[in-house]
Amino acid sequence: MVKKKACVFISGKGTNLNSLIHNSRDTNFPIKIDLVLSNKKDALGINFAKKFSIPFKIFDVDIKEFEKKAIKELKDRKISIICLAGFMKILSKSFLRMFRGKVINIHPSLLPKYKGLHTFKRAIKNKDFFCGCTIHYVDEKMDNGRIILKKRVNIDEDDEVKTLQKKVQSLEYKAYSMAIRKIYIKN
Ligand code: GRF
Repeated sequence: MVKKKACVFISGKGTNLNSLIHNSRDTNFPIKIDLVLSNKKDALGINFAKKFSIPFKIFDVDIKEFEKKAIKELKDRKISIICLAGFMKILSKSFLRMFRGKVINIHPSLLPKYKGLHTFKRAIKNKDFFCGCTIHYVDEKMDNGRIILKKRVNIDEDDEVKTLQKKVQSLEYKAYSMAIRKIYIKN
């Protein structure tokens, strides 16, 4: 299989990046992570790139400047897919137009429910029975693009934000890779 070249954008812990790195080492996984970009110089996720000798760049600048620098890297390396994994900035319309259909994101809720922040708190407050994560294409509106895959877990009576976050995060690690397989491996 000829793997597509991927870039992962991070801002924080990078645990989704870590699971993508692990899964992408499988010869049958459709992508290879060729680059990690962080917009935060202290993002812990950078350590995963270092650990696995994946090229990384830190552009701890405003989003306009970040995009400018990112575009050059993405083009130079012929990146086919951009995976947002805890990337805490909104990408501009012009950036998304340039990489139309090539930017995906993982969000910790069952979209279209709970776009934005504090998704677990909101699900608990509304006494929902389920929560989960969604992998979707990124369009110009926040947490809005076409859904690729959703995975859900039960919310138990004694769940609180922390326990829910833990449950959903371990679900995310499987879901993100499943979504990538779904994009590239038909039937
Ligand atoms: C994940 O929960 C993801 O759903 C959200 O940000 C979090 C990132 O976590 N978009 P990590 O940086 O991958 O550990």
